Amino acid sequence: MRMAQLHKLPLSLTLITAFLSCATLRASEHPGQDDNTLEARYHRLAMTPPMGWNSWNAFKGDINEQKIRRIADAMVASGMRDAGYAYLVLDDGWMADKRGDDGALLADPNKFPNGMKAIADYVHSKGLKFGIYEDRGHSTCMQLPGSFRHEQQDMNSFAAWGVDYIKLDSCFAEINGRPSSQDFGLYKQCILNTGRPMILSMANYTDPSWAWDGHKIGHLWRTSYDIYPRMGSVYYCADTTAGDIVIHPAFNGLWQFAGPGYWNDPDMLQVGNLKTDAENRTHFALWCILAAPLMAGNDLRDMSQTVRDVLTDEEVIAINQDPRGVQGYKVYDDGDHEIYNKPLSDGATAVLLLNKAAKEADITVTWDMIGLKGRQKVRDIWQRKDLGDFSDSFTAKSLPQHGHMLLKIGSPGKPLPLPRPMPLDKYIVTRKGRTSLPDLHYIWRKGDAPKYNTTFDGKPIVIDGKTYEKGFGCKASSRIMFKLDGKASRFRAVVALDPSYKGDEAIKFRLRNEDPIGPDSLLYDSGNMTKDSPSKLVDADVTGIDCLILSIEGKQALANWADPHVLVPR
Ligand code: GLA
Repeated sequence: MRMAQLHKLPLSLTLITAFLSCATLRASEHPGQDDNTLEARYHRLAMTPPMGWNSWNAFKGDINEQKIRRIADAMVASGMRDAGYAYLVLDDGWMADKRGDDGALLADPNKFPNGMKAIADYVHSKGLKFGIYEDRGHSTCMQLPGSFRHEQQDMNSFAAWGVDYIKLDSCFAEINGRPSSQDFGLYKQCILNTGRPMILSMANYTDPSWAWDGHKIGHLWRTSYDIYPRMGSVYYCADTTAGDIVIHPAFNGLWQFAGPGYWNDPDMLQVGNLKTDAENRTHFALWCILAAPLMAGNDLRDMSQTVRDVLTDEEVIAINQDPRGVQGYKVYDDGDHEIYNKPLSDGATAVLLLNKAAKEADITVTWDMIGLKGRQKVRDIWQRKDLGDFSDSFTAKSLPQHGHMLLKIGSPGKPLPLPRPMPLDKYIVTRKGRTSLPDLHYIWRKGDAPKYNTTFDGKPIVIDGKTYEKGFGCKASSRIMFKLDGKASRFRAVVALDPSYKGDEAIKFRLRNEDPIGPDSLLYDSGNMTKDSPSKLVDADVTGIDCLILSIEGKQALANWADPHVLVPR
């Protein structure tokens, strides 16, 4: 990368240059050390990203007692436990296909003949913690019994077995009749009711927990669909501004929504399952700079020395586990080459230079990208080698495809300032009276990004001969979420297909509560509309709604929300 390419930086300059000396908005929200209530202790369970091993990526549902005991042994013998991997988590496939007569969950009698308490005890005897998978729908993704309508009973079973960590999935949960935040909130309460604080990992991959304050409910939440053992999938999961689960680009990713106690989860590790050691290292470095949970997903009984060295590298793990808990954020991205910055608690900063492109590349980080000046010490973290003092920039030379350098830059001292988090009034309805939604950044979208204040093709929005200054030009199917924060009472807009659209597809304009898919989330439905339908005036009650989705359901048609706004009672 030549310096001249810096103009390609698609990130808001204000984000990078407006460094503040305060922590992120949410840092003050986690309970202080002296608060010893059960809830405070619960929220302190994951002050750094959780580390462990999970059975899914290695074995899918093919698990059994012997295998899991040997995995526990290997976690100790390989040095994984001592490197910080505390949790051994059983994913889907551990339970019997029917509940007992009393409705209680049972272990699969063939796979776990001695029951779950026995396996939990074994795991604990190794100095490890025990985690288990369930689903908040009526069935798990493998169609085994889910926890819907058994919420408290199942959390009680887990507590009785000595579970320390619950991965709660979301297959079939869209028909629960509860928005995700309420559903997960219910489980948090059920966990607290057991008196045993257990980590709540929210596996809600279709649904943006950061939007509905997931940090007040659980400890980590999925931010991507499932990860697979190939680099394309690794990058897809890491980059939530690319796939289907997208926040407005002005946020520069999700970094401001993580912090000590609660973490964005780009899914579990495929280290050891990728094609080369270089790929394994890059995947691990990326998860470490992102302050992502580190749940190993390889067969630990059969791991090469190199894979073990990657997973247990002390200095790399220290970047992930840094107590300041900043999620590394992008300071450069030209599509092929990326630079991430993660200011650390000791005054230095960790920087990842990554080449995704097929062509070899030099990548340069300049000190102004990372809030430094003058001469600075640079350390190569994987090599454990100080590279010397550098003025104003450092260049990683000849990085091959999927190659990277992980650096520590700077010296001990006062922690470096962070960029300014997105101000609340730029993405949350904060004012009384009228808020025009195009004045806010969407907090999540699915489908093509809407055009703000023009049609999808960039023309003025015109409906029934009237030109609207404000609106969204969309291409179906399109979902855009706005955070009303429970403040607004009404939503109003004029809707119609765009006159430039000549096709015959019928679409529906709908308003939904936070859940993207559940039938219970419907707040307004225009019914089928085609290019020949007259426009409609939407005037809907949105009282109490935290996150509102403007949804256009159907195929391909271009359609507009004109003058979409909400009203907050004075
Ligand atoms: C979903 C989850 C995976 C795994 C499987 C189990 O796909 O996203 O991580 O738990 O279910 O069936």
